[in-house]
Amino acid sequence: MEDLSRRKFLQQTALAGAGLMFTNPVTIFSQINNSPIMNNTDKNTGKRKLGTLEVSPVGLGCLPMVGYYGSGVREKKAMVELIRSAYEQGVTFFDTAEVYGPYLSEEYLSEAVTPFRDKIVIATKFGFGVEEKQPTALNSEPKHIRRAVEGSLKRLKTDRIDLLYQHRVDQKIPIEDVAGTVKDLIQEGKVLHFGLSEASANSIRKAHAVQPVSAVQSEYAVWWREPETKIFSTLEELGIGFVPYCPVGRGFLTGDINAQQRFLKPERRSTLPRFEPEALKQNEPLINFLRSWAERKNASPAQVALAWTLAQKSWIVPIPGTTQYHHLSENNGAINVSFSSTELNEFNSEVSKIKLLGHRADAFTESQIDK
Ligand SMILES: NC(=O)c1ccc[n+]([C@@H]2O[C@H](COP(=O)([O-])OP(=O)(O)OC[C@H]3O[C@@H](n4cnc5c(N)ncnc54)[C@H](OP(=O)(O)O)[C@@H]3O)[C@@H](O)[C@H]2O)c1
Repeated sequence: MEDLSRRKFLQQTALAGAGLMFTNPVTIFSQINNSPIMNNTDKNTGKRKLGTLEVSPVGLGCLPMVGYYGSGVREKKAMVELIRSAYEQGVTFFDTAEVYGPYLSEEYLSEAVTPFRDKIVIATKFGFGVEEKQPTALNSEPKHIRRAVEGSLKRLKTDRIDLLYQHRVDQKIPIEDVAGTVKDLIQEGKVLHFGLSEASANSIRKAHAVQPVSAVQSEYAVWWREPETKIFSTLEELGIGFVPYCPVGRGFLTGDINAQQRFLKPERRSTLPRFEPEALKQNEPLINFLRSWAERKNASPAQVALAWTLAQKSWIVPIPGTTQYHHLSENNGAINVSFSSTELNEFNSEVSKIKLLGHRADAFTESQIDK
């Protein structure tokens, strides 16, 4: 309890320092709106549940740290400090993968969390042919899964992976075999919880029958809502949590990217249709829309985008990625922004009228998504 109060204090101090501290938003919105406030986080613990796994309502994605977006690989010391700041602000859920770097993101994370390893949840992933020097090819052969897990354990300097995801469903390997391998790893104590990423409802169901799945991670944000129609009902039925990746639209939903911006290889956004010049221009009304809600909520567009995901279900935990302290504090401040059910309906009805241009993924990435 004392630990929680201390962290809450630090979190609020960080937000105040970043100029992002709000006057009790719940009170404000109760006064102007009679419909119930959709704050889905447990009031006593300040946590959310992914299956049986308890985590902070907002996690930290550790992918951009290793040079996925913008200006290359970030310096290790700065990223270690950033991850430690996240923990000080109450974040207990850290997302990485063997293929991030490859390896580097796990190494950064490992060094950062050593002082508080037992108090946090590390999520990592297997599923690409990293060991075989084919990092873009899928590989979920049982012997590859075992090798990947041994490598992750070594780099993470830990004796167990709290949440192990299959990064992409590998159509060559029956999902039951993947789930069976993870089940064995759980029985051996090397893995605590099982997750899937970008898996279809069919694969989720088959995997869950062999080894209960705690969380599914897929792209989900104001501008990419497919999981709502494809997998949410299955997750709800089976008691599985959902982890939206790219919840701030790879930076677009924060309002920091303008229509004149251009993305060059190897930066990830250079191949994504939604970051092509025409799409950036056509999709500007979405940013203006988020800005108007941000003003109404005394928040930032990024916080509105994140709070919107939090408001959908109690079992959703977004993992925004960042390399910057002020973005980290801003993103964590999203837990203080609530939507009433009336506001959520209004938001959803207005946003559905905005005609977006460009698909969320390039053709190769899309070809690896389980349908
Ligand atoms: N399962 C999968 O297949 C999969 C795929 C992609 C990602 N992921 C995971 O999901 C995490 C989140 O996705 P993501 O990092 O790709 O995308 P994201 O969280 O939507 O966006 C990250 C980008 O937005 C910027 N950003 C973050 N917060 C910001 C703020 N408040 N204001 C302005 N800019 C901000 C970051 O730049 P700065 O560094 O400048 O803040 C970075 O360039 C990843 O880190 C990774 O762990 C999983």
